[in-house]
Order: sequence, then structure tokens, then C-alpha cells
Amino acid sequence: MPITIKSAREIELMTEAGRILEIVHEEMRKALRPGMTTKDIDRLGEEVIRSYGCVPSFLNYNGYPASICVSVNDEVVHGIPTDKRILKEGDIVGLDAGVIYKGYHSDAARTHAIGEISKEAKDLIKVTEESFFEGIKFAKEGNYLFEISAAIGRYASERGYGVVRDLCGHGIGSQLHEAPEIPNYEMPRRGVKLRRGMTLAIEPMINIGGYAVKWLDDDWTVVTRDGSLSAHYENTVLITDGEPILLTLSK
Ligand code: MF3
Ligand code: CO
Repeated sequence: MPITIKSAREIELMTEAGRILEIVHEEMRKALRPGMTTKDIDRLGEEVIRSYGCVPSFLNYNGYPASICVSVNDEVVHGIPTDKRILKEGDIVGLDAGVIYKGYHSDAARTHAIGEISKEAKDLIKVTEESFFEGIKFAKEGNYLFEISAAIGRYASERGYGVVRDLCGHGIGSQLHEAPEIPNYEMPRRGVKLRRGMTLAIEPMINIGGYAVKWLDDDWTVVTRDGSLSAHYENTVLITDGEPILLTLSK
């Protein structure tokens, strides 16, 4: 599939999808506490999504069985919410969510602390967010896609972190996953030229240890191979001829 350039109307709809998703994330963040289960988060997230007349885009996507991906500690992404997984003080939890508003998608992820967490965990979350912001310095019409990738990867790996290579960011629009794929590491070519109206879900996944990951037998949950902590940060980004617009982050 070619990369889609969104019309003004499509951008309006994606802006609303992004605004609602930001609220969903805010509500989930406020509810987080030790003792709650990952399924509690999924229930809350789905309820907030539907209360805005949106559809949770992950639910049943390729058979994924929930609305929110909840990934704890060494889980990188796509953790499946369950009544059995109880969050405890010191955990870090990645929340990844997507909504569909009038046919258009937004996609965003945050990693949060449960109570007090270690210095190492705090630094991981911070560097993961910072790597995203390094990347989007290059997210501008006329630049090349893999300038974003290289900036993210360089920032995290220079600081000693493992940058996950087996999963990427992606274009987004009327589909959750559109072209292009957006790696979080340096590529040996420059990739496509960015144009205004492209919408990209940029999503670094960063490990304290090595970059290697594996899939659990549920065929969804991705974990670090070495058992080290992992963090995820994602926003849906609109390319313009100036600063990029973060559709899922207004403040
Ligand atoms: N943000 C994730 C991604 O872009 C969410 C997809 S999870 C799935 O891949 F369940 F929907 F597959
Ligand atoms: Co995504």
C-alpha cells in the first residue's frame, strides 16, 4: 500500500481521534494503583473509548482479545490484560491504546510507574520518551523518514539501552497500520521523503538490557529475551512544513 496523504477533512477526524485518545490515556493514568489488575485497566480504557462514541481499534485486530495492550516490566508490548495479573508497587506498566473516530484511527502508548520505582526504571521511561522527541526533531516535510529512525536509535543506544528491532512504528489513517514502517534504529538508506499530510505512529520500544525480544506462547505478548525492563512511548504525529503536530499529545 502506498503512503496516504490526508485531506483537511481526514486531518480533522484524526485530530479528534487523537484528542479523545489523550483523554483515554489520562483516565487510565489517574486510575493506576497497586492491587488493580491489568484487566481492570482494559475495562476502564474500553469504557472511556466507547463513552466518546469511538471503537477500540485493537479489539479483535488480527484476533487480539482486548482493547488496551497492558505490558508489565519485561513485557515490551502487546501484553494481554487478565484478571490474574495484579499490579504491585515498583512495577512499570506500558499502556498502548487506539481509537477509531468516524473511520479514522489514533494510536498512542505511555509507560507509567506503579508507586515508587527504581532509579533504573525511572531513567528507562525518561530516555524512551526523550528518544521519541529526538526522533520528531526530523519529522518535517522534505526530510527523510529514516532520519527519524536514526535519531531515536542513536539517542537510546548511546545511553546504553537496547533498542527493539523486531517491531516498528507505522503510518496510520483509515487503517491502524499503513505504510510506511518506521524502525527505531539507523537504516542503511534514507527512506521515503516526508510530505505534509502524512500521519505517522512513532513508537520507540527500549530495553534496559539487550535489544532481543521473544514472543510468548499466547502469540501476542512480546518480552525481552534477557528479562530486563522495557518501556514504550508512542504518539500519532502529523507531518507539516513546520513543526510536527502531535495528535495524541496536546500538553
Ligand atoms: N500500537 C500497537 C501497534 O502499532 C498496537 C497494536 S496492538 C493490536 O502495533 F492488538 F492491535 F495488534
Ligand atoms: Co502503533
